[in-house]
Amino acid sequence: MSSPSEPTPEIPKSEIIDNYIEWIYKLDILRCAIELQLWEKVAAGQDTPEKMVASQGWDPVGTRMLLDAICSLQLLSKQGDRFRLVPESEAFLLPANQTYKGSLLLSESHWEGDGKLAESIRSGKRPIHYCATTEDIIGMWVADYSRNWTHPQVYLEDADKLWQSLEIHARDGLSILDVACGPAPKSLALARQHPGVSLTFLDWEGILQTAFQAASRLGVENQVTKKPGDLWKVDFGENLFDVLWLGNITHFFSPDENIRLFRKARRSLVHGGAIVVNSAGRRDGDFPIWAQLWLYAVSTGGEAYDFAEYQDMLTKAGFSDVVDINKGPIRAFKP
Ligand SMILES: C[S@@+](CC[C@H](N)C(=O)[O-])C[C@H]1O[C@@H](n2cnc3c(N)ncnc32)[C@H](O)[C@@H]1O
Repeated sequence: MSSPSEPTPEIPKSEIIDNYIEWIYKLDILRCAIELQLWEKVAAGQDTPEKMVASQGWDPVGTRMLLDAICSLQLLSKQGDRFRLVPESEAFLLPANQTYKGSLLLSESHWEGDGKLAESIRSGKRPIHYCATTEDIIGMWVADYSRNWTHPQVYLEDADKLWQSLEIHARDGLSILDVACGPAPKSLALARQHPGVSLTFLDWEGILQTAFQAASRLGVENQVTKKPGDLWKVDFGENLFDVLWLGNITHFFSPDENIRLFRKARRSLVHGGAIVVNSAGRRDGDFPIWAQLWLYAVSTGGEAYDFAEYQDMLTKAGFSDVVDINKGPIRAFKP
């Protein structure tokens, strides 16, 4: 104990810690509202606490407090004594909508298996709760990318700029293999620039349906063929493609796995063909450092690689002229 004559040691403000405590509370409230399908009930006309209580038989105090809390979290608004959906809750929190993200939010709130991350770091045993490269979790990708495949026009401008920066131009006969394509935002943008561009989509069948939906919304479905299945098992073919696109998949694989994947990609390209590795999860890019641990948790060997590491993997797989475009996509050629 310090005596009265000794100066009191300084103590920092607890703002950073207090913010985390706030986030924990907010997340638990959000999770509760999703479990109770609060927005669906408001949309169905139970737009006051009294109507909701009468219809659901819930506790009146808790119901009123939850509605007010969700309103303060900007996922409802209030006019007079009636609650209303806001555009975000209308689009993403009504289960009947294709763009519903409630289940995704609930499942992602257990991304680290409810406290298993520490054990995983102790033992190195991973993935923890789910593996990002298995077919089991396609529902998660469908929900995560729902804005892209239901409204593909939202990404066209950025995707067009990306192809410009890569110096890959749409032309008659250009053929692209989009591996782990998801709803294929980037390759679809290029197909839209020229009717002579042909795309081959590779992903799980359940996801390819969303990519096809996006393709028809953009009017390019006739330019698309599909190769459904596991990228490790499906044959990419030999000397077929001008461009092979790998978007947001390589950070789930170990360096050895990536080299194996890049070799498979090289075989499928024509001589002079380009591979593009586009990972939002780069250590030397804008990806938040804390989020890199998610890559650890959801894969057996993945992590956030930097340009030098990708350059090394691509070179080992037989690619040359590896370039980094503004800390975004990495392009290399098959000699
Ligand atoms: C993060 S998303 C990336 C989607 C898209 N390439 C993009 O960049 O927007 C990962 C995609 O990889 C697919 N995927 C993961 N593992 C796969 C595998 N073993 N075989 C085929 N597709 C896989 C998933 O289904 C998902 O669509």
